[in-house]
Amino acid sequence: MIIAGNWKMNLEKNEALQLVKDIASEEVHPDIQVKIAVPFVYLDNLREVVSEQSNFSIGAQNIHQALSGAYTGEISAKMVKSCGIDWTLLGHSERRQFFDETSDLVQEKCKVALQEKLKVIICVGEPQSVRENGNQKEFVKTQLDKSIPKDLETSEIPRIIIAYEPVWAIGTGLTASPEQAQDMHHYIRDILCQRFGSSGNKIPILYGGSMKPQNAHGLLSQDDIDGGLIGGASLKSASFLQIIRIAEGLKK
Ligand code: PGA
Repeated sequence: MIIAGNWKMNLEKNEALQLVKDIASEEVHPDIQVKIAVPFVYLDNLREVVSEQSNFSIGAQNIHQALSGAYTGEISAKMVKSCGIDWTLLGHSERRQFFDETSDLVQEKCKVALQEKLKVIICVGEPQSVRENGNQKEFVKTQLDKSIPKDLETSEIPRIIIAYEPVWAIGTGLTASPEQAQDMHHYIRDILCQRFGSSGNKIPILYGGSMKPQNAHGLLSQDDIDGGLIGGASLKSASFLQIIRIAEGLKK
């Protein structure tokens, strides 16, 4: 199972270091992969803190779609890779909402990330209005179809992770019920298997959206939920570690 944190634009450097040290000081079962997406400026430092732990990795929250060039203020997959980082989030709903990232752009980013041998966590999820109209599956299918590159090599499939994050549940305290989440995850699993055959079964599908210790067991115990992508509750070692303990207890 994968328990991933997404710090977004939070924490100053000393707080970030302390939080990673607190999490890394706890023994975690080797079947659980702990991942944290941190602000770019801390990538190098924090990677060093966890370098001895094979199941703990630090990743980026985004990359630019070009490998280098005149793009002031941007960070490329090559740069991230050269800092010893091996994965990035892509297409988080906040990137889609506040920075106008479309699924076509996410696909471009995904291509360069895979080319640079990074793993990617591609985020998808419907806004509230779409859920209210009952069109969430069509919406998520379109996002998946467009965000995942068309001509993937077989060797690239194992470097893809999907995160289903209903936008109405992100940072709102509202969570999809375990049944709602499982229903969508199962649907995503079918799409992945149609596209990639049996390899689709091996692509982890994480749930994100107000996951916390109180609801993690119900969500993580669902058949097609292979882990969590956790925002708010990843900013405190106690709550993040509690979710890790719940995942360990499930032995999936
Ligand atoms: P949240 O964020 O857990 O605070 O809802 C999840 C995410 O945005 O990845």
